[in-house]
Amino acid sequence: MEKYVIEGGRRLAGRVMLQSAKNSVLPLLAASILTEKRVTIREAPAIADVACMAQILRELGAKVTFSGGDVIIDSADACCHEIPSSLTRELRSSVFMLGSLLTRFKRALIAYPGGCDIGLRPIDLHLFALRRLGVNISERDGFIFCEAEKLHGAEILLDFPSVGATENILLAAVMAEGRTTLTGAAKEPEIVDLQNFLNAMGARIAGAGTDVIEIEGVKELHGVTCRPMKDRIEAGTFLIAAAACGGEIEVVGIRPENIRLLLHKLRENGCKIHTKNDKIRIESRGTLRCNRRIETMPFPGFPTDLQAQVTALNASCTGCALIVENLFETRFKYVPELQKMGADIEVKGRTAFVRGTGRLHGACVTAGDLRGGAALVIAALGAEGTSEVLDLSHIDRGYADFRAKLKKLGASIRRVSV
Ligand code: EPZ
Repeated sequence: MEKYVIEGGRRLAGRVMLQSAKNSVLPLLAASILTEKRVTIREAPAIADVACMAQILRELGAKVTFSGGDVIIDSADACCHEIPSSLTRELRSSVFMLGSLLTRFKRALIAYPGGCDIGLRPIDLHLFALRRLGVNISERDGFIFCEAEKLHGAEILLDFPSVGATENILLAAVMAEGRTTLTGAAKEPEIVDLQNFLNAMGARIAGAGTDVIEIEGVKELHGVTCRPMKDRIEAGTFLIAAAACGGEIEVVGIRPENIRLLLHKLRENGCKIHTKNDKIRIESRGTLRCNRRIETMPFPGFPTDLQAQVTALNASCTGCALIVENLFETRFKYVPELQKMGADIEVKGRTAFVRGTGRLHGACVTAGDLRGGAALVIAALGAEGTSEVLDLSHIDRGYADFRAKLKKLGASIRRVSV
């Protein structure tokens, strides 16, 4: 196992070139088996979740190679419709492979992905939608078996804008017979990226980014080379780190409207934010003020994937903040680790009440999930003294070159074996 050793209190300065978005690249990899032709995804981030998804595709019989930062998928020989349970446990979001497997093979067998450190994460909306498209589903001993004589278009109404369910519906309806109208779709920018990717393969999808998406089934899809959008959660993580440490950084490759509410909240803290085209610059000086209230919501609301990071920031501001997590049941598990650093936070259910202490102090803490781990690094960077952050495997799932990028900005951060 490895850990970070971080000397806190350094101001950050410089420019961050963003990675491709983890939550776009994963559904694009799932979509790559919808054609037997070659698919190339440019600049795929070197993160564990992408490696795990590549392994899933290889288990299905596809040839997956990494070359110069790109990932190349040739799935002409893919023939298997089963995903090993070890891999669905490791990568919960593999559940949207159901849509691709059903389109390609008309059948799919996966283990129930189950909950994880941030919540129960049921898949009832996924299964409801697949049944509307003509899929027969049986569940036994923790496995889900799906098969469809023929996938046909349908009217689907989601009563919650689930990102994964929306992606599964696009992947299952893209070559179904007839038209599918999805109402109540998730509006995240990563859904727009998936629509654009599928349309570049010959699909006929319109409306992504709004809550009504129309999919006209097509007979076949061809290969494509694409460059996914940049990672808005990585961008937000670095902006929050700069706010916590003080200094001035610029993130490049991001559309400001994709993290509009975060920028609004950082201004509320007292940071100066300048945006120009695909660049966002932040200046943070002196002690910041707490946000009065932050509630996570589906896009365009405040992103749940930045909740832990802004809670860590507020812990070191002055004043009080109310942080409400509306998306996941248990997404405050990182709080006890922040409390070891002096944070004054009280959690009741889905609400965290933060009393800013002005400054945290170093401690030895352990990451328990991806974004909670990033929050601990942010807290350590802004804290007084030395911290250690253990169990980096969670952070490695979603942040490529995290230490190198922070070091380049002036942080004192070393990765050492435990
Ligand atoms: C995606 O997860 C992201 N993952 C998550 O990012 C992100 O937090 C989440 O969307 C919300 O934005 C990927 O894109 C790979 P949901 P997903 O389905 O699809 C409930 C990260 O840190 N729900 O929108 O699993 C569910 O319980 C990860 O990068 C049902 O009730 O999210 C949750 O409360 C973490 N039934 C809410 O919807 C269902 O069938 C949001 O889930 C599906 C979901």
